[in-house]
Amino acid sequence: MTRKLILDLDTGIDDSLAIAYTLASPEAELIGVTATYGNVLMRDSVRNSLAVLDLLGAPGIPVHPGLPCASSAGDFSVQEISAFIHGRNGIGEVDIADSRRGAETTGAVDVIIEASRRYGDELVYVPTGPLTNLAAALKKDPSLAERLTVVLMGGALTVSGNTSPWAEANISQDPDAADAVFRSGVDATMVGLDVTLQTLLTYEHTHRWREAGTPAGAFLADMTDYYIRAYETTAPGLGGCGLHDPLAAAVAVDPSLVSTFPVNLRVDVEGPTRGRTIGDVERLNEPRKTSRVALGVDVDRFLETFMDRVTRLVRAD
Ligand code: BDR
Ligand code: CA
Repeated sequence: MTRKLILDLDTGIDDSLAIAYTLASPEAELIGVTATYGNVLMRDSVRNSLAVLDLLGAPGIPVHPGLPCASSAGDFSVQEISAFIHGRNGIGEVDIADSRRGAETTGAVDVIIEASRRYGDELVYVPTGPLTNLAAALKKDPSLAERLTVVLMGGALTVSGNTSPWAEANISQDPDAADAVFRSGVDATMVGLDVTLQTLLTYEHTHRWREAGTPAGAFLADMTDYYIRAYETTAPGLGGCGLHDPLAAAVAVDPSLVSTFPVNLRVDVEGPTRGRTIGDVERLNEPRKTSRVALGVDVDRFLETFMDRVTRLVRAD
């Protein structure tokens, strides 16, 4: 079955790889991108998404602006660690042409609501940054929780976080939004560090893109090499960079790539563990679990599919 996907991106490096994977997947129809902040400012996420879509041969996919910061924060500035991992421009300091088109006038919140009304079960919404846009959409239209299927990159249940021992980056940028999303009852699959740190890309992989000899291949290889180099500093010994956001996109089109644990999730919003994803003890005995957490992943099948598809995409450039 073909699924219609909306990617909600803070377009950094792995977000760009999620765009590439989605475009290269025959089971997925990318109907739009909504922009959030995190790896970069929201406006730079719009810029990067438009430029990457153009370079990858998809200049018709609309990009919608989202909210620029968490509702609990007055402003947002990119953290030093994000700039270190993704580069100041979000795409590994690689220079690619700005798109000649601009963002759509309809904002992310309305796009989520309208698309879910229009496409129902066919739609999967894939946030790979803070959940600010989705939480705002659920607040505006609470009935969205009954209609929308969400596969998100974020959180960590059985492993430590990556911004603190307890918090993963996307959740830590807006813990209140993530908590509101999990408590809303929306059908959510959490693809967190438990699995994304098992799916690693190395220089041997990116070499295949460079060998394609195309602008798209050179861009993806140079950008991802920057990411791998950053991981050599932040996670020495891991053996590559985590394919966080592409794995979430892949699970959105093929849920059988992961095994999941059903649980009603919440996020700590108070105290020193703010940003931790954890089971909600108050909903522990509710028979219906609205979230599931990916805890196992078919690493070989995902990596093989990812490389085959993205390499074919860049060769066709
Ligand atoms: C997540 O944080 C961002 O830096 C990445 O793009 C990914 O979505 C990993 O924790
Ligand atoms: Ca991201």
